Amino acid sequence: MNKKILVTGAGGFIGHHLVEHLKERGYWVRGVDIKEPEYSSSPADEFEFLDLRRWDACLQATRGIDEVYNLAADMGGIGYITEFLADIARNNTLINMHMLEAARVNEISKFFYSSSACIYPAYLQNSADVTPLKESNAYPADPEEGYGWEKLYMEKMCQYYTHDYGLETRVARFHNVYGTLGTYDGGKEKAPAAICRKVALARDGGDIEIWGDGNQTRSFMYVDDCVEGIYRITASDASEPLNLGMDVMVTINELVDLISEVAGKSLIKKHDITKPQGVRGRNSDNSKLNELLNWSPQFSLADGLSITYHWIESELRNAGRISG
Ligand SMILES: NC(=O)c1ccc[n+]([C@@H]2O[C@H](COP(=O)([O-])OP(=O)(O)OC[C@H]3O[C@@H](n4cnc5c(N)ncnc54)[C@H](O)[C@@H]3O)[C@@H](O)[C@H]2O)c1
Repeated sequence: MNKKILVTGAGGFIGHHLVEHLKERGYWVRGVDIKEPEYSSSPADEFEFLDLRRWDACLQATRGIDEVYNLAADMGGIGYITEFLADIARNNTLINMHMLEAARVNEISKFFYSSSACIYPAYLQNSADVTPLKESNAYPADPEEGYGWEKLYMEKMCQYYTHDYGLETRVARFHNVYGTLGTYDGGKEKAPAAICRKVALARDGGDIEIWGDGNQTRSFMYVDDCVEGIYRITASDASEPLNLGMDVMVTINELVDLISEVAGKSLIKKHDITKPQGVRGRNSDNSKLNELLNWSPQFSLADGLSITYHWIESELRNAGRISG
């Protein structure tokens, strides 16, 4: 019989794509979130509105389930996660602790946990020309305040549940995921979506506001690669946390140029160095992922940005925010 899967955060960006991916593979899927997917309805067999900070909700969500993909989180772009430290850490701690314990009580066979590159120490990310981060670089710890500390602690809780109770856990550290159906406005959006929106709304030859001096570096992974990676990591024997990201690094200025090129616009960059910009440089070292899975993300940035930009542009057009 086909496995029954729970995806938490199924109303969110990656969770929604993951439900779609699992449905295409023939699984029965229950999606859970506090909100509906923003831009299209969920393909889940069952979708329940539950606040997973609550213990009873986590028990209800995991009933009759074989595997859990736990993606629910209070999260957003750099502006959001640097502003709300206590709220984010409290909300995510409640969700993840209760989800792990409910998985144990309801005898779940595998538990996937979505961690983040924000667990890596700030002292290794001070230069734009940064050395790609290996999994072993996580310690000595100095993660992103609030959001990053909670993720790192919960990685440990996954390890402890395996140690004490034999619950099989899989952990992936996502590096900057972007794509269609991701939030692009309202304060929770991340850099690629925010820049796509700004480029789409700018007139050719006009200005574009960029947070920081634009020389900060990142790697960006298209969402299709992310859900494929989640699936492969969960199916594998890899019980240690693994990076899941692209290993091609660009500056934010280069990201703006790539998106402007897709849009066919020439824009003048206006840098605002008072805005939060996160660590100076970050890139993923994929050697462990390659070695254990014989796979790594494939999608080129140019292709992924083209799809994402055109989706955001059409959303803005449909909302009447772009005319002509
Ligand atoms: N997108 C990225 O670049 C990225 C990078 C690193 C890690 N991650 C992690 O991946 C996971 C998914 O991220 P995303 O980009 O899809 O974010 P998202 O904000 O689009 O999705 C998270 C979902 O969790 C839901 N949620 C929040 N609180 C909840 C609660 N109390 N009960 C039930 N549902 C709740 C939200 O409503 C949202 O739909 C998160 O754990 C996030 O921390 C994402």
